[in-house]
This record gives sequence, C-alpha cells and structure tokens, in this order.
Amino acid sequence: MSRDYWETRYQSGDMHWDKGAPSPGLVDFLAAHPDLPRGAVCVPGCGTGHDVREFARAGFDTFGFDIAPSAIQLATEKTKAAGLKAKFQLADFLHDEPPQKFDWIFEHTLFCAIKPQEREDYVRAALRWLKPDGQYLAVNYMIPDKDGPPFGTTREELERRFSPHFELVEELVPRSYPNRTGLELLLWWRRKVR
Ligand SMILES: C[S@@+](CC[C@H](N)C(=O)[O-])C[C@H]1O[C@@H](n2cnc3c(N)ncnc32)[C@H](O)[C@@H]1O
Repeated sequence: MSRDYWETRYQSGDMHWDKGAPSPGLVDFLAAHPDLPRGAVCVPGCGTGHDVREFARAGFDTFGFDIAPSAIQLATEKTKAAGLKAKFQLADFLHDEPPQKFDWIFEHTLFCAIKPQEREDYVRAALRWLKPDGQYLAVNYMIPDKDGPPFGTTREELERRFSPHFELVEELVPRSYPNRTGLELLLWWRRKVR
C-alpha cells in the first residue's frame, strides 16, 4: 500500500487498528524478561507510537519509523506529552536504508499491512536493519484474510520465511486486545550467526 493510502487513513481518522495502548503481548513479554540487554529497538510501521513508548518506558533506546507523515507527527506529540524519550522518523521500512543498525526489531501489524507479494522485501529489510546478532520479536496477526489490509498469514509461512535467517527462541499465543484474542502469535527470533 502506498504512502498516500496510509496518510489518507490517518488524515480521515480511519485507523481502527489503533487501540490507544501498546500490544498486550509486548507488555507481558517485557514484564516476563526484565533482564534483556537494553539495546537499540526499531519499531517499523509504528503508527502513533504505543509500542515505541512501551519499549522506552522499559529503558530501551527506541526508534519508531512510519511511511505516513501524520503517524510520525502524532507519535512525536504523544511521546512528548507522556514525558518519554524516543526518536521518530519518516521511512519506508521495505526500501530505505536504516539510519543505523538495530539490536531489536519489534513487529506489530506491519507484516499484515503490506501486500503479501512484498513479504520477501520485508524479510530482506529486517536483515538490513538488524545488527548481525540482532533479534526479531513479532506479534503476528494470524487471520485467514486474503483481502486486506490486514492480510493474513500462517505459522507455516512465518517458519518458511524467517527460519532460514533466524533461530526461534520463544513462541506463544500472547494476551491480545479483546477483538484479537486467540488470533495472534508471538515469535521471538535470534538472527543466525553466519
Ligand atoms: C495497521 S497500521 C499499524 C500501526 C501500529 N503498528 C499499531 O499497531 O498501532 C500499519 C502502519 O504501517 C505503516 N506502514 C505501511 N507500510 C509501511 C512501510 N513500507 N514502511 C513503514 N511504515 C509503513 C502505516 O503507515 C501504518 O502506520
């Protein structure tokens, strides 16, 4: 989907994905792993920044990227109002070069927002934006939908796309927003050493 498509959705207020709170799965993950090294986190397709702020609250050096200028503006304003520190930048995660390499990428509703034929670009982007020993934490949306966004995926597709490059560290069905209960899968991947 184009930058104009997403910008129009923000400008018209048609952003029902935004639940006004971070991913419950992310909140629980950070609470369950208080000793993770506090590296640099990239949240691509960050929207208005709820997940970015959750990482910032937990003490990570956090960066949010989005293709829609209004998302970046809203995320910046909300983060300032919350008294938190995080950096936001307009970027096309699939095609742009990263401003730096990251220890973590956190995926939440970007993989399902792009066209399925762009998923190879997405995996290449994750490898480009991560450090060689980086980690990829994803709350995947496991819906069957072929007409999107959101576009569905399966456990098999995720395994096929990510396991050539990443070792699976943890897998669970996370706590979700009420309308997504049982429809999400948290996968924590560590990049394979080459
Ligand atoms: C469904 S929304 C999810 C936003 C946020 N992750 C959330 O859960 O609230 C998808 C977001 O990805 C952004 N996006 C779509 N394609 C992108 C791309 N190629 N690079 C960066 N952001 C992108 C959109 O502008 C939108 O903010």
